[in-house]
Amino acid sequence: MNADQIRTVAVVGAGTMGPGIAATFARHGFATRLFDVKAEQLEKAKGTVDFVYNTLVRGGFMSEADVATGKKNLTYTGDLGEAVGGADFVVETVPEKLEIKQQVFREIEPLVGDDVVLASNTSGIPITTLASVCKHPNRVIGMHWSNPPHVIPVIEVIRGEQTDQATVDTTFAVVRRIGMIPAAVDRDVAGFVENRILYAIMREALHLLDEGVASAEAIDTVVKWGIGYKLAVIGPLELLDMAGLDIYTSVANYLNPDLSNRADVSPTVTSKVAEGKLGIKTQGGLFDYTPEQIQQLAQKRGKLLLASKKALMQD
Ligand SMILES: NC(=O)c1ccc[n+]([C@@H]2O[C@H](COP(=O)([O-])OP(=O)(O)OC[C@H]3O[C@@H](n4cnc5c(N)ncnc54)[C@H](O)[C@@H]3O)[C@@H](O)[C@H]2O)c1
Repeated sequence: MNADQIRTVAVVGAGTMGPGIAATFARHGFATRLFDVKAEQLEKAKGTVDFVYNTLVRGGFMSEADVATGKKNLTYTGDLGEAVGGADFVVETVPEKLEIKQQVFREIEPLVGDDVVLASNTSGIPITTLASVCKHPNRVIGMHWSNPPHVIPVIEVIRGEQTDQATVDTTFAVVRRIGMIPAAVDRDVAGFVENRILYAIMREALHLLDEGVASAEAIDTVVKWGIGYKLAVIGPLELLDMAGLDIYTSVANYLNPDLSNRADVSPTVTSKVAEGKLGIKTQGGLFDYTPEQIQQLAQKRGKLLLASKKALMQD
């Protein structure tokens, strides 16, 4: 289906990601249905959508009129047939478990037309594997949003081995219609681009922590105010040209052999998980949090991400 024919979108799964994704489609004019197997998730999603729209209004990305449009366009349903029947584009964002995602695709496919794009928000399961249970794997594609989905501009568009060009083109155009930036992932590798790079950074950060090279606070300060700040303007490959490939060669020759290449999980993380310290959701992980701090962090991070997005989009 051509992107400009798309009017109705179904978002399947209303957990951490689904509500922000559905809110984004709805505010850009798509009749959007949000589905979940759990009624309480749909109830919770209504509050999340309010939070999302409030954040975007406060950040100057939406007017009150846009909020009214978004809310009018968004419906919540616990009936899969009602959600995907007649939909022109479907995004699944159910848990990151192969068998659940494949079951969802099996259930959806007979309920939609043959040319309806079935997009997966998987963080890294190969699209070819997901699509292997489908009758029309040519219309299955990766559409990987970043968390928080209503804020982070990039969406990876991942081509499975059988995904056809029309599906890639339609998904690219849809991403642009919702004001996001599409990035093509041409080969279906686990983790795609974003998570491969992010996990390389996190592996080295944890290695430095495990080795006592610097505190957790110091490591995050260097990454946020040195690397992260710069990378939002100059990508790593552009940075190589800026630094000089000769300089990179000299440094990489002695540094690469010293970098972490461990295949298992860092001992610090393993012991925290064993203690039940999982991060914000348990009020403690690599850092400690009070309930008030957790509330403030979510608001502060949303505000700063939107302010920096505004600054970066001036270009
Ligand atoms: N959380 C993140 O930061 C993040 C970022 C990018 C991508 N993702 C990916 O997005 C997907 C969803 O992640 P999440 O964090 O929102 O998960 P989640 O566990 O918070 O939410 C999943 C939702 O799916 C629902 N669900 C379960 N089975 C279902 C079914 N058969 N049909 C419909 N709904 C069903 C659950 O009730 C739940 O509400 C995963 O593939 C994940 O890897 C997550």
